[in-house]
Amino acid sequence: MSAPIPTPDPLNDADSSGERHKLAIVIGTRPEAIKLAPVVLEAQRSGRFDVQVILTSQHREMLDQMVELFGLEIETDLDIMKPDQSLADVTTGALGGLHDTFERLRPDFVVVQGDTTTTFTGALAAFYLQIPVAHVEAGLRTYDRKQPFPEEINRCLTSQLADLHFAPTPQSRENLLKEGILDSNIWVTGNTAIDALFYTLDKLGDQDAEPSAHRTVLLTAHRRENHGEGMEHICDAVLDLVDRYDDLRVVYPVHLSPRVRATVFARLGNHPRVELIEPLGYQEFVLAMSRATLILTDSGGVQEEAPSLGKPVLILREVTERPEATEAGVALAVGTDRARIVREVSRLLDDAEHYRTMSETMNPYGDGTAAVRIVEAIAARLSSSTGS
Ligand code: UD1
Ligand code: UDP
Repeated sequence: MSAPIPTPDPLNDADSSGERHKLAIVIGTRPEAIKLAPVVLEAQRSGRFDVQVILTSQHREMLDQMVELFGLEIETDLDIMKPDQSLADVTTGALGGLHDTFERLRPDFVVVQGDTTTTFTGALAAFYLQIPVAHVEAGLRTYDRKQPFPEEINRCLTSQLADLHFAPTPQSRENLLKEGILDSNIWVTGNTAIDALFYTLDKLGDQDAEPSAHRTVLLTAHRRENHGEGMEHICDAVLDLVDRYDDLRVVYPVHLSPRVRATVFARLGNHPRVELIEPLGYQEFVLAMSRATLILTDSGGVQEEAPSLGKPVLILREVTERPEATEAGVALAVGTDRARIVREVSRLLDDAEHYRTMSETMNPYGDGTAAVRIVEAIAARLSSSTGS
């Protein structure tokens, strides 16, 4: 048994002692902003915390889009992004900046999310100052040190540093238990990605799509281990597909990483039915997902969102740390092999029964209430440790 999930009581959320704890929430990249926005908003709503949002700004434009959308108020912005930065640049910039910030703010708890270098350095800086750490989206594993790189190691190290582990699924909890993490420190909460998705779908309401003569593949790809050859094979597969299907268009909001852009614009820049566009705002991207025929991606977050929208997702990786959708038959890891990508996309486009099976709507990654559970659990831990 993992730690019991507290029952949220929105009418009676304020701590009976009236004490507000300082909660530092660390965000570096686009997906961290999307997935931590629900936690920031819920912690503020509960009235139990002084919430301090700290940006490393490992990303800049792609992060700012999300900070603005969710209306996050920023306590500190370390502004560390450099063009084509190395992992060491991000690590040293974030670690030093976060350490100084935590020393100044002295939060009661630090919250980090996922598996980026910001996540790992946030946990490490807090650990050095003996500030407890809560890890949102804990326990995802491929058990392959190089896939995804460096995220698999970032998440293992973060698990060693964290005090509270918010596992999105029972399977991620099992992974943590196998590594010796105490059951009483693990909470199965669902993924806050689904909170953000449901919140956004609610805001968007019913949107009529323009009727289209085309079928649309929505593509995103950015992973470091796919840079170079992997990206080239993905691009070549896209060209094969638009050649094979006259009614197919591919929409690709291209990540701002210069290594990704160099390959993508060189290979795909000239086809009338391959639309290379700038990274979309989250609402626009959710709309694009909901209107796509199918999704091709190496993104973690998109893998989580697609099943909740009933969209088949082909994962451009050999292994995934999110096996739940694959096991349910609505996602498939196809790697970056050109022929395999073409074969699996073609099967979805040609075989209506196969398409229908992979389009079942389900929510393997959460029910949209993860943030409430996370905020309750942190508050409960702080109350028990301070006796308030
Ligand atoms: C990072 C994370 C990855 C996550 C991804 C989400 C690490 C090691 N990697 O990868 O886990 O999946 O973010 O997108 O933490 N850039 C801009 N503007 C932006 C964002 C990026 O110009 O708003 C460019 C910069 O040149 C930057 C480069 O992209 O140097 C790479 O950014 P970086 O955060 O180092 O790696 P990502 O590949 O984005
Ligand atoms: N996303 C977005 N605009 C885009 C592409 C993606 O808002 O143009 C969202 C997507 O819905 C998901 C998150 O960004 O929530 C995924 O981010 P990314 O792929 O950069 O990182 P990963 O999830 O792989 O760490």
